[in-house]
Amino acid sequence: MKALVVYYSRSGNTSKIAHEIADSLECDIEEIKDTKKRSGILGWLKSANDGRKKSFTTIEQTTYDPAQYDLLIIGTPIWAGNVSTPVRTYIHEKQAYFNNVAFFCTAGGDKFGGPFIDMTDLSGISPVATMGISGKDMKTGAHKSKIQDFIKAIQM
Ligand SMILES: Cc1cc2nc3c(=O)[nH]c(=O)nc-3n(C[C@H](O)[C@H](O)[C@H](O)COP(=O)(O)O)c2cc1C
Repeated sequence: MKALVVYYSRSGNTSKIAHEIADSLECDIEEIKDTKKRSGILGWLKSANDGRKKSFTTIEQTTYDPAQYDLLIIGTPIWAGNVSTPVRTYIHEKQAYFNNVAFFCTAGGDKFGGPFIDMTDLSGISPVATMGISGKDMKTGAHKSKIQDFIKAIQM
């Protein structure tokens, strides 16, 4: 199975999980980069608003062609209960080139449903697996066993 991990991360959590998955699978990894500044309190407020409104943004050009991979593993932080705006934009722009998908999200809390519904609708494909990682999971190290279970679930 040829897999690609694609993720957006504003403050590092989703990046950490994405790299652990890619290291374990020894697969390619791609960071989605937003052209909008999202740091600081203004960036937080703008992001919360964009998440709530299910807005799109302009992302930088990506390197890898998703059509070349059996499985695309897409990771996002939760913004206001929804998928983050850069990941929403990536899926919207590229979904025609997806083969199979799996989704993961990171969140402060432990309600992960919203982004997965959005991501499934946007990509037009049901994910082979999903994984939600809470702030508490990251603090306690529980994310490690969740990643192992996720990796087992995506082996096709
Ligand atoms: C704008 C914004 C909105 C957020 N909204 C939620 C939310 O609705 N529910 C939640 O559990 N966490 C929420 N969070 C917390 C993030 O989802 C969480 O910290 C995530 O791990 C951040 O990932 P990152 O470090 O990869 O950017 C929000 C964070 C930001 C910046």
